[in-house]
Amino acid sequence: MKNLSISCVPSLSEEKLRQLILDTYSRPPACHIHTYGCAQNVSDSEKIMGILSGCGYVFTDKPENADLIVLNTCAVRENAHDRVFGNLGIFKKLKEQKGDLIICVCGCMTQQQQVVDTIKESYKYVDIVFGTYGAKMLPDMIYKVMTEKSRVLHLYSEGDLISEEMKQYRSDKVRASVPIMYGCNNFCSYCIVPYVRGRERSREVSAVCDEVKQLVENGCKEITLLGQNVNSYGYGFTSLLEKINAIDGDFRIRFLSSHPKDAGKELIDAILSLDKVCKHLHLPVQSGNDEILKKMNRHYTAQDYLDIVDYARSKDPDFSFTTDIIVGFPGETYEQFCDTKKLLHRVKFDNIFSYVYSKRSGTKAAELEDNVSDKQKGLLLRELLDEQRVITEDWLKRFVGKTLTVLPTEKGRTGENRLSGKSDENIIVEFDGGERLINTFVKVKIIKSMNWALLGEVL
Ligand code: SAM
Ligand code: SF4
Ligand code: F3S
Repeated sequence: MKNLSISCVPSLSEEKLRQLILDTYSRPPACHIHTYGCAQNVSDSEKIMGILSGCGYVFTDKPENADLIVLNTCAVRENAHDRVFGNLGIFKKLKEQKGDLIICVCGCMTQQQQVVDTIKESYKYVDIVFGTYGAKMLPDMIYKVMTEKSRVLHLYSEGDLISEEMKQYRSDKVRASVPIMYGCNNFCSYCIVPYVRGRERSREVSAVCDEVKQLVENGCKEITLLGQNVNSYGYGFTSLLEKINAIDGDFRIRFLSSHPKDAGKELIDAILSLDKVCKHLHLPVQSGNDEILKKMNRHYTAQDYLDIVDYARSKDPDFSFTTDIIVGFPGETYEQFCDTKKLLHRVKFDNIFSYVYSKRSGTKAAELEDNVSDKQKGLLLRELLDEQRVITEDWLKRFVGKTLTVLPTEKGRTGENRLSGKSDENIIVEFDGGERLINTFVKVKIIKSMNWALLGEVL
């Protein structure tokens, strides 16, 4: 990874740590940061990197070369949790070889007191723990570890504050995520996020727009607005989209995630009328069965969901939808699972992200008997994915002969001279082209559909 300079005035604690680092190391110390979980966590890691870069750290992909290891964790499912503890075991060996290595665990998992207690008791080589709020205190924490040789294990809960001081370190100059809000108020019965990320807080419109302007001026081509439920953005989401769309420049706008209970015709109309907004909606449905949706506390029915899809497709038959699905929710019968399969066929998603239900302690669903066995959940997941493979393959065929706008970002997989990128519709498109086209918008005529992507030629 490259060391990018960050244009912000360092805080007093950053200055203090920067000086200590100059006195301690004969070269810039290296940090390895490993991020689990969603786009929000990736964005938080960019802020942590911004702070560390301001203190003099450079970044490395290799943990064995690091002076500081940061694990930014996710708590959404049990397997994410297990992987963190697995990785910590590996880093223990590195710490034995390099006594002054600093290990830090942060993020959603460590916003839970029981996890902090476990690390305190059983992972004594972890030096720093903080949750989802403490990033700006990190220079102070590292300073304390370096000068006092003590551990710093903290849970902060500044739930209502949004810090605009932390500048993000972005290694990708072309595609950037911009958080517009933090936290979640929805309390879907299975989900830990509201407990570890707190209640919804929205950034000011001016702060979001200024950040987007700056990114576009610096050459950014794709902005993804982030929030757990962007439709409940505190100052009006469609109005924010209009303001961002009005910013001068050659760029496109995406956003994640929308909640079906708050996404209606107004949102679809905005997407279709604003030229920079991609004609794609990630709209997590979770289940196609009304009883399960009720138990999940989602506040919509399968028909409500289909009404949104039908409205969008009545205006633009190529409108693309992706979704999240949970299989094996407590008490889910095979018939109820089949309602989800039916919904997949009806909507014709371009892609789905599907998960087996994972019990999270503290949530409402954790009080229900988790009565679908792991084996059964695995079978349901496979059945769902097999079904979706056919649907994706079929959906992609409609684009043959059409011209799509693609932002190629890397070399393709299907041929020597191929480039690969996503269309406005969020579909992977490969085509022959010189590397000079990478990171520019290209009009591509689709000549063939494959089961996972489209093949085209530059117009
Ligand atoms: N706020 C977004 C939303 O409502 O769609 C994203 C939330 S979460 C970070 C991403 C996905 O993880 C959810 O849409 C859901 O499908 C899945 N998920 C959340 N909790 C889960 C659990 N306990 N077990 C399995 N999957 C879960
Ligand atoms: Fe979790 Fe529901 Fe909030 Fe999404 S909307 S983060 S699934 S509680
Ligand atoms: Fe994201 Fe995982 Fe936290 S999905 S919000 S990193 S629990």
